[in-house]
Formats: sequence, C-alpha cells, structure tokens
Amino acid sequence: MNLLLKGGRILDPSRNIDGVMDLLVKNGTIAACGPDLQAPPETQTLDVGGLIVSPGLIDMHVHLREPGQEYKETVATGAAAAVAGGFTAVACMPNTLPVNDTRSITEFILRRAGEAGLARIYPIAAVSLGQEGRQMTEFADLKDAGAVALSDDGKPVMDAALMRRTLEYAESLGLTVIQHCEDLSLSAGGLMHEGYYSTILGMRGIPAIAEDIIANRDILIAEYSGTRIHIAHVSTAGAVRILREAKKRGVRVTAETAPHYFTLTDESLTGYNTAFKVNPPLRTAEDVAAIKEGLADGTLDVIACDHAPHARTDKEVEFEYASNGISGLETSLGLSLKLIEDGVLSWPDLIAKMSLNPARILNLPSASLAPGACADITVIDPNRPWTVDLKAFRSRGKNSPFGGCALPGRAVLTIVGGEIKYNGLASQ
Ligand code: DOR
Ligand code: ZN
Repeated sequence: MNLLLKGGRILDPSRNIDGVMDLLVKNGTIAACGPDLQAPPETQTLDVGGLIVSPGLIDMHVHLREPGQEYKETVATGAAAAVAGGFTAVACMPNTLPVNDTRSITEFILRRAGEAGLARIYPIAAVSLGQEGRQMTEFADLKDAGAVALSDDGKPVMDAALMRRTLEYAESLGLTVIQHCEDLSLSAGGLMHEGYYSTILGMRGIPAIAEDIIANRDILIAEYSGTRIHIAHVSTAGAVRILREAKKRGVRVTAETAPHYFTLTDESLTGYNTAFKVNPPLRTAEDVAAIKEGLADGTLDVIACDHAPHARTDKEVEFEYASNGISGLETSLGLSLKLIEDGVLSWPDLIAKMSLNPARILNLPSASLAPGACADITVIDPNRPWTVDLKAFRSRGKNSPFGGCALPGRAVLTIVGGEIKYNGLASQ
C-alpha cells in the first residue's frame, strides 16, 4: 500500500525544509515531497492539514528489560509504547538480566524486535562484562551482531584507564560510547539531589559534582585521545557549562537530556513519592534553567527520555528501596512540546533533537524525508491537548510522575518503513 500525506507542515531538518506540502510514500520509501502531489493507484490518502510531518522520532536512550525482567517491560511492549509515543526507533540500554555484553544477547533482542514488528530497535551493548567496570566486552563482535553503541548505563565506567581504552578502540570501529556520569564515591547511598530539600527531608543526597566530575573527566579523555563521546541524561548546570566550554574548544562531545530534567525539580520529592525517584536525580530550578539554555544554544544535542519502566512492586516500597526511573516513552514528545510553547526551542530545533541528531550520533540511516529515504515518519498534532492516563500506557511500566498532567499535543501517526504502526488520528 502506498501512502499520500496531504497538506501537512513538512519539517525536515536534514534539508532545512519547513513548509506546507504533500508527501508520497511508495514501497516503504519516500517517493516525493512537494505541492499538490497526485495519488497513484492503490494509495491511501490521509489529510494531515494542520499537522506536523516529521522524520520518524528516535529515542536513543531507553530500557526495555528483556531478557530477564519481562514483568517490567518486554521488547514488544516497549516497542508498542515507542510507536504510541511517536518514536519509529529506539536504542536500548544493556542493563538487562543477563547484561547485553555478548553477541547472543544482542541477537536475541533484535530477534524479539523483529517479532514485535513495531518500532526499530537498536541495541546498545555493554562496555564491560556484566557492566562490572573491569574487563572490556568484544566490541567488534557486538558491532557485527548489530549493536550501534556501547554504554554501561545505569552504572558509570568509573575506571579512567578503561574509559580511555574504550574510547580509543570504539573509535576505530565507529561505535559511539555513551557515558552515565556518576562518581560513585560521591553518590554512594544518595537518594535524591543534595541540597536544601534533601536537608529538610533528611535524605542522603547525590551532589551535582558526582555528575560534573565524570562528565569533565571523560571530556578530557576524549580531548586527549581525539575521540568522540556522548554524555547521557545531563541533569546539572555544571555539566551544561562543562559541555559548552568543551564544544567551544572543539572536543568531539555530544549530549542528551531527558524531559524530566527540564520539567521537574527536587522540590517534587517533598511528598516522598517514588515516582519522582530517578538517577541522576531531579535537580534545582537553577539546573532546570541551565538545561533549557543548553537545549536552546545547542550544547545539548538530543532529547532522550531514559524510559525506565518498573513494576508496582519496584516502586511501592520505602523510598530508600524503590527503583530509579520514569516510564517516559509515551509522554516524552508531549512534555517536549512545552519547550516550543515556552520559546525555548523552535519546531525545527525540537525535531532535530528528537530525530536527526540521535541518528547522526548513533550512525543510523539518516532521519530524513528526502526522496529515496526510508519512510519512517511521525505525524504530530501540536494542538491536541490530552491528559496523561497511566492506565492507558502501552508500556508495562506505569511508573510516571506525569499521570494526570495536561499536555499540549501528541503524535497521531507513526509510520515505520512505510507501514502505519500507530494511528491515533481519529481518537481524542
Ligand atoms: O533512573 C534510572 N533508571 N537511571 C538509571 O541510570 C537506570 C535506569 C533503570 O535502568 O531503571
Ligand atoms: Zn538509562
């Protein structure tokens, strides 16, 4: 079946295109993009007037929990959440059980992704065996099996020499390395951001410098070795400043932040609600302002939600014992649209941070609506206010502090390889 999307606002940052046009999809690829296109025979025509037509959104930082913790999420339920949130592709972190540190696990995840047949799933393999920070995994073998990047996310690579060797070896293979920045000696035992609220709540804190020190260290290693590095889930003003200065010096560093880091602060913890417990922790209003500045001036390249689904039994326990994380795929776009409302980002900038930039950082097929490109497309209704209903999440993880929140808009069509994988055009 061919598809003709009529009269949408086509936003394609890969070609600096922003205009009202039609888009024709034939045999899974973009066939044409221009005014007044005619539908060839056997073509489904969809009126997308008033809607945004974007290259398929890509979330480069999600946790899918399979193998090993299928009660939290499976590849299939995570992929269903992805397409419902407007994502045509996601990259999944290796902290599964067992850890994705071998070819067989990477291949297993890809097989599951194929069976689900929803979003594209790009596995990220571990840097170290068992994510234990000692022995490197077989990078070349993992790449050959389909891994697109390396990370020990959930944990930092604490050993600087291991990080140096990782960056140098990964560079020779064209694999991106993603660091979770947390100095464990500073964060040990911490439950929330260290500051005013941790003091009045009597909770042990995680200082901002736990993040800043590792971000700074790894930027220095990348600079020294002339290699590339990507910094995950930036939450502090300090890390934004360090990144900005590094980029100015020409260091090959990129970085992402997550919607909760530009939306929430540590004040949310005053109710001891474990839905707000994440790692890195929610920071202060000053940090939120710095994150927004970093997004606006290009210091932060990517919005990725760190989708971290957990079961009720993981979250409905004493704060100290609760798992870290927010199930984010189905609210990420809606929360990010607020950045446009608030004048932080333009439409093309937002789309670039949620499609083109992650594709470039992970060396994925380019996120583009150019004729000949694979037809991965997200159609967004910017003016469809909705209220987040956690029970309606496709994700098994209903753990989100955003239940009941009013969001301005959402994805209404998610098209992967020319096939409609999510259609919310009719629903309210
Ligand atoms: O909040 C988080 N959840 N941060 C992490 O680093 C890990 C993640 C998870 O796997 O649940
Ligand atoms: Zn993560």
